[in-house]
Amino acid sequence: MTKVLLTGGAGFIGSHTCLALLEEGLSVGVLDDFSNGSPEALRRVAELAGLGALRQESPGRWSTGDSGPADLTLLRGDVRCPGDLDRAFADGIGAVLHFAGLKAVGESVAQPLRYWDVNVTGSLRLLEAMGRHGCRTLVFSSSATLYGSTDRVPIPETAPLQPINPYGYTKAAVERMLADVAASSPGWRIARLRYFNPVGAHPSGRLGEDPSGSPNNLFPYLCQVAAGRRPRLDVFGGDWPTPDGTGVRDYLHVMDLAEGHRRALAVLEAEPPQLLTLNLGSGSGHSVLDLVRAFETTNGLAVPFSVVGRRPGDSAVSIADPQEAERRMGWRTRRSLADICRDGWAWQSANPGGFGEGESSLDG
Ligand code: UD1
Repeated sequence: MTKVLLTGGAGFIGSHTCLALLEEGLSVGVLDDFSNGSPEALRRVAELAGLGALRQESPGRWSTGDSGPADLTLLRGDVRCPGDLDRAFADGIGAVLHFAGLKAVGESVAQPLRYWDVNVTGSLRLLEAMGRHGCRTLVFSSSATLYGSTDRVPIPETAPLQPINPYGYTKAAVERMLADVAASSPGWRIARLRYFNPVGAHPSGRLGEDPSGSPNNLFPYLCQVAAGRRPRLDVFGGDWPTPDGTGVRDYLHVMDLAEGHRRALAVLEAEPPQLLTLNLGSGSGHSVLDLVRAFETTNGLAVPFSVVGRRPGDSAVSIADPQEAERRMGWRTRRSLADICRDGWAWQSANPGGFGEGESSLDG
């Protein structure tokens, strides 16, 4: 059986998708440098999937062994490093899900070269390695950030791409690179998945988002306020042209997103070679205050907040048109805003310090 390689598989979306693939009975390899992901997340993924413990096989390599219905191998390595990629592909990789990348907008403005290096050079090296190892199936983590600050509601995949920060430019560059590669020779099966706002956590409370430092995004920040780690939520702008004046976004549960990856992979493998480009979102918009109220009602907690000035670079509304994902792969979100709030709080309240441990949590 061939393996599926997840670059960045120890991060938020990668780890949840890893679990969904293992539950499907697949053999999964993860390549991650742990810069924004945790080995402890994958130890828990193996546990939730009912696999054996991740045991160290050699320096920087851990595996559950292949005795179960599925198996997981974890390699510590950098997606920009050809040697690390060759080690990952040596396991016989049939398809790649490419999550590895940097994703903080403000940081990308301050450190643009780092973003071009990790996101663009990383993707380039990965494609070169896929060429060396004869692997031509790839699912890429793209982003609704490509659409920039458009007023179009909802946004279809055909909307113009107009990123407004270095992070967005790097995602646009990789999307372009993938289109060029797909056109260069027959046989490539590539999906570019444009995520809207992925939030929530696995319902077990064992797996979730563990941002390092102060969270940039609304949902993890709100969770930390609810937990008493931060005094209050700053709501960025109360004067947007929206029903309650706060920004409207398309929030989707990370387990729905994980399912979207599983479907995309299945479609790529079943159909003739193609370049697939899909929005992954719910198609519904919720304001910042809607999210705060849903969180309070679902969990019986108060979330103190105050409305402050707008955040530079924000837009009023961002909502997916998700019809193409439904048409092409029968996927739509199934989990509600209440599910998101319940599962996010289950994770935050059970893991106030996130995953906490480093590699020491793995055997050996
Ligand atoms: C952001 C990025 C986007 C990236 C995505 C996932 C920007 C402009 N966009 O999306 O490129 O793909 O994260 O990493 O940064 N808000 C508050 N208080 C906070 C935080 C956020 O009121 O403390 C508001 C924002 O103004 C916005 C909404 O909450 O209206 C969602 O913000 P956020 O979670 O940061 O996501 P995006 O900005 O939509």
